[in-house]
Order: sequence, then C-alpha cells, then structure tokens
Amino acid sequence: MAIIKTLQFLLILFLSSQSFAQNEEDDEGIKRSDFPNHFFFGTSTSSYQIEGGYVEDGRGTSNWDVFSHIPGNIKNSDTGDVADDHYHRFMEDIEMMSSMGMNAYRFSISWTRILPKGRFGKVNRRGIVFYNKIIDNLLLKGIEPFVTIHHHDLPDELDKRYGSWMSSHMQEDFVYFAKICFKEFGDRVKHWITINEPNLVTLMGYIKGVYPPAHCSPPFGNCSVGNSDIEPLIVMHNMLLAHAKAVFIYRTQFQKKQGGSIGLVAYCHMYEPLTNNEFDLQAVDRALIFSFAWVYDPIVYGDYPKEMREVFGSQLPSFSNTEKNIIKGSLDYICVNHYTTLYAKDCLHSPCSNGGDRPIKGFLDTMGYRNSVSIGDPTGMDRFFVVPRGLEKTINYINQRYPNKPIFVTENGYSTPPSDGNKVEDIINDTKRVNFHRNYLASLVRAMRNGADVRGYFVWSLMDNLEWIHGFNTRFGLVYVDFQTLERRPKLSAHWFASLLGGNLQHSSSILNKNTFDHLMYD
Ligand code: BGC
Repeated sequence: MAIIKTLQFLLILFLSSQSFAQNEEDDEGIKRSDFPNHFFFGTSTSSYQIEGGYVEDGRGTSNWDVFSHIPGNIKNSDTGDVADDHYHRFMEDIEMMSSMGMNAYRFSISWTRILPKGRFGKVNRRGIVFYNKIIDNLLLKGIEPFVTIHHHDLPDELDKRYGSWMSSHMQEDFVYFAKICFKEFGDRVKHWITINEPNLVTLMGYIKGVYPPAHCSPPFGNCSVGNSDIEPLIVMHNMLLAHAKAVFIYRTQFQKKQGGSIGLVAYCHMYEPLTNNEFDLQAVDRALIFSFAWVYDPIVYGDYPKEMREVFGSQLPSFSNTEKNIIKGSLDYICVNHYTTLYAKDCLHSPCSNGGDRPIKGFLDTMGYRNSVSIGDPTGMDRFFVVPRGLEKTINYINQRYPNKPIFVTENGYSTPPSDGNKVEDIINDTKRVNFHRNYLASLVRAMRNGADVRGYFVWSLMDNLEWIHGFNTRFGLVYVDFQTLERRPKLSAHWFASLLGGNLQHSSSILNKNTFDHLMYD
C-alpha cells in the first residue's frame, strides 16, 4: 500500500513538473519578497455562495433564494440553502486562511441577514452578531477584513416592491443598508467595497437573463420580461449612483472617525485582436470601454465614456450636475476582478454572427478560439482561459486610464475543468491551479515593476462553493469541499500558498506530501 502511495505521489510530482515546464509563460517563479511587506494576500468569497443557514436566525428571503428554488435555474438544482455551511463553520474557515499565511479576507454581507425586508423592516441584530464574530476572529488572527456590502444577493422584498435595480428607489435602499454596515462594523473594517461587479450584474441579469431577475429580450434570450438594450443602462446607472451616495455618506459621516477607505469592484477581461487588422485592434479598445470604463469612467471622471454616448445617445442616462459632483472621485482605490483574456473581433467593417453586441452594443464579438486553437488552456468555465500575460495588461490598462490610483486584484482564480479529472484525488492535486496562480502572480509583479501601485491580491476562492448557475461542480477553491459531508480538505494549491506565504498549514491528506512539495517549489 505504502509503495503504491509513493508511486502515486511521484507520478503527481512528475506530472506537475511537466505541466509547469510546458507553460509558455512559466518564468522565473515568484517569491514573497517580490511583493512589498505590507502587501495583502487574501482569499475572496461571497455570502450567498458559502454561508447557507438561509432561514436561520431571522435571515430574510433574497433574490437568489427565490431564483435557485425554481427548478432548472441552477445546474443539478443546487441552491445556497446550505452551501459550504460557513454560517456554522466560519471558525474552521478562518483557521484555514490563517494557516495558509493569508493576511486578508474579502467577504460579503448578506443583505437579508441584516435587513430581512430591506428598509421596510427591522434590523436583524442576530445578523449583526454573526458578522461581528467573523470580523473579530479575523482580526484576532491578524487577517484584515475587506468587506463587500453587496455581492449579487438582495432582499426579495425590493424586487417585489419595485424591481430592485430597475428603480431609482434602490439607491436609497442601498445607502440605508451601507450606513448600517459602516455604523456597526466600521470601527474594525478599514477596507470597504460597495458593490461587486455592476458590469456582470447587467450582463447576466439584464442582457442574457440567466441570473435573477432573469430579464432579457431576443436575440439574447427569450425571457418573459426585459429589454436587453435598454435595461442594462438603467440598472448600471442606479448601481453607480447607489455606490456614489454610499461613498458620500461614508466620507461625510464615518471616514474621518473610522479611518477606513472605500471603493467598488468591476470585472475586467483583457482582449487581444483576433487578427492584426486595425479594426480588430480598435475592437479591443471598444471591448474595454464598453465593459470596464462603463463602470470606472463615471467614478473617476464623473461621466460615461464618450464612445458609449455616441452609440446610445439619449438612451444612456445622464448624471445631473449634483450627481456628477458626488460620483466623480468616489473611490479611494480601484478593485478589479480578472479571470481571462479573449479575442476581440470588429463587427463594424465585417459581419459577425451575433450582430456585434458583445459587450453591450460595442459592435464587436469576443471569443476564446482562433482557427480552433484556444487563446490559453481551457478551464471549468466556457469563456475563461488561462492567459497569465492578461493580468499584466489589465493592470497596465487601468494604470494608464486612471493614473495614480492604488489597485487591488480582488478576484483571480482557476476552476477545474472535467479534463483535470473528477476523482477527489485529482481535484485535490490541483497542479494546474498552482501553475495558474504562480504565473498570474508573476504577471502581476511585472505590472508592479511597470509602475502600478498594486496593494493586494485575492484568490477566488477560499474554498469550493456555489458557482452561481453552474452549481457546486464548478470548483474554484484552494480548499476542497465535500458537499455531502461538508468536510474541508486543503488542495495542493492551499499548501503552495502556505509555502509561499510562510503559513503553517499541516499536511493532512494521505495523497499529498507537503514536505516534498515544498522542496520542489522553494528549494
Ligand atoms: C464573481 C464571483 C464568481 C466568480 C467566478 C466573479 O464574477 O464575483 O462571485 O464566483 O466570478 O465566476
């Protein structure tokens, strides 16, 4: 038995060294000392994806509770009812972060745990107690909390009353919620993120209609309600103003006393031209503008990009002068989630099968393949590919368009494709994830050497969790979760991070040999 185990382990090491060697971007490797001492290394999660405890201690019904309970909406009919049961196991989870040597953790607050019916009901003190315990225990372990106030899940009450983000009333609701968070947690939370990825919410919820509230119109889908051309513009506008007003409240009522800082997260894919033709090069610019600058131009400069105004005219909402004053500069740092690079193809000068609507009306199409060859190794997500150089390019782009802002990479991660193997052993020996993070971190170091002021890097995710409509089988975690028993088992990648960061994660699995692994990586 021992001989078989040893052979199995040697095979894993051999395969891992092969896959490291084969990667074109595998360079000098990285060390903790490539980053400043005060750099934050953390993991990221969100409430609905990990907490469970969905009817416990007064939590109200959220949009995702309603959506996930409709059969067919989520793969295998998975729901967040139990998820990782983090609601009961958070101490064990904090312990894992600590043993990996992480000094930061980004998590989100479940709106309905604090305000079961939004501002139309009482504050649920038991929800406050839960997050107080998390924050206090993180701080005891020397882990800095980065708190996202809203990450996709919102009170069903607000959907029912006025269609949540379709209504400008939602701005008031969000500010009401944010203010409670600042008041209750702001003495200890020094890094706030108002909203996670408004650009993804508009895409998935209001263009494609595959996330709640499932609004869309042809050619994007056949939802019972929605208008994929107009609604995303309204939703984005309300989310941006909600953000700006919450930042205004924070700055005027809390920041001075509490001494924290605040921002918002948007996702940013990188794009490369499908051909060397100048039109595809211009399509790359438009792809970035119509997805990322759509969010950040208003926050940094006070208005939408002119290219979007040219396309949408008066359909694109306008900011009043008062609103411009509030939104302009409503950030202390830029937070970006980066997962992939795609090819961009121009659709103004040559035809595209989808009419050139990707991202929203940008007259371009994006894809992962050129002549049937993928831009990078495929992952467990159809449109995510492993292209480490894309992170350097993303940070360079941000630093050029919005100079001199501190930057946090608030999500970057790898989901295991079925081709990596479905057995627990295969999933736990995640050499491709190790490779992914090592090469993306090396790319980040290059961006920092180019002059970007990057302050932190967060892995998506701490542990396998509910990957929204893809369910539990799309795994992004550094820690394996058995969704039957809820047992957690650190993957090879968790050990790799512990080794990089000087954590004391103990080798606990018969199929991993941490000592040999350390020797391989940091001899
Ligand atoms: C979201 C996460 C999600 C991850 C992987 C991000 O867009 O913020 O909630 O799990 O991507 O798809």
